[in-house]
Amino acid sequence: MLTIEQKLFGKLPNGQDVTLFTMNFKDEVIASVMDYGATWTHFFGKDRDGKLADVVLGFDTLEGYLQEDYQNNYCYIGSTVGRIAGRIKGNQFSLDGQTFHLPLNAGAIHLHGGIEGWDRKLWKATLISETNQVGVRFYYQSPHGEEGYPGTVDVWVTYTLNTSGELSIHYKAITDKKTIINPTNHAYFNLSGDFRQPITDHMFTVDADSYLPVDSQGMPTGAIVEVAESPFDFRTPILLEEQLGKAEEQLQLVGGIDHSFVLNNSEYAATLFHPLSGRKLIVHTLEPGLQVYTGNSLGNDFLGKGGVTYGKYSAICLETQHFPDAINQPAFQSVVVEPGEGFESKTVFVLTS
Ligand code: BGC
Repeated sequence: MLTIEQKLFGKLPNGQDVTLFTMNFKDEVIASVMDYGATWTHFFGKDRDGKLADVVLGFDTLEGYLQEDYQNNYCYIGSTVGRIAGRIKGNQFSLDGQTFHLPLNAGAIHLHGGIEGWDRKLWKATLISETNQVGVRFYYQSPHGEEGYPGTVDVWVTYTLNTSGELSIHYKAITDKKTIINPTNHAYFNLSGDFRQPITDHMFTVDADSYLPVDSQGMPTGAIVEVAESPFDFRTPILLEEQLGKAEEQLQLVGGIDHSFVLNNSEYAATLFHPLSGRKLIVHTLEPGLQVYTGNSLGNDFLGKGGVTYGKYSAICLETQHFPDAINQPAFQSVVVEPGEGFESKTVFVLTS
């Protein structure tokens, strides 16, 4: 009733094997992850008639993830993103008077951990098979100075599926020097299971009374603004189409929603619901923020699962994390981690119908 299987998914250009792990709960919830990028590749759930469909964007083969068309339009599909998710203002930060300069990898900005972040590493996998849960623990050691960040960081990302059908991602890290850590997962959800359909027909709810406005580079300005009477008001369920259709400068700046929501800290973060299929995804976390990205830059650039091209708004990312650029924003909760202190974070995804 709860199983885990592994198979060879492909080989990296350097000849290293990439393994795909599939967790299955009663053929009702099925999730696959691979050790390359500690990436979440598949997530099957039933609609109200019991029909299974995959609800995350991705590729059918490892070659899909490595294809040139995707690499040229790279967007972290399903990846573990780190050390720091999102942008860092000025591509630099200071700790104890020392300034660290970070490489640019998205135009003029440093995004999602840099040129070769945790999403492009081959992680070491350990299987978990217990009575109440199955899963995989991925481990990676990020050396001191990697992508400009100080400290050697040991990081574990553990995916588990339990007997309640809940998929959890648990992050744990330790460092030998003071550094900054703020990872997330970059899965793109479309609960219709038909990735040609935009997610504008999904209802969305976020437990957030405020959000972080951004500048023209998508960088948080530092302000924390109430969502009331804005297209960021998802306190009660509302069609994404309705909010995305509003003529609001904050949406126009980034071509849709690409903003952090300030979670009310209730452990419950958000609900995505697709009325047509009846599929519902509930997200729980104790992280302070939810970066919501409506796939604004997707645009028929590469072939995804089943040869489908992913267009604008074809999926939504629900990235649980501390706020972007927290290291340069005194009002945001700190992402600094001291040696001996450690970092820990957990997100639970519940897919039902
Ligand atoms: C960022 C977007 C970016 C996307 C894909 C999101 O987390 O906020 O600005 O385009 O990831 O890289």
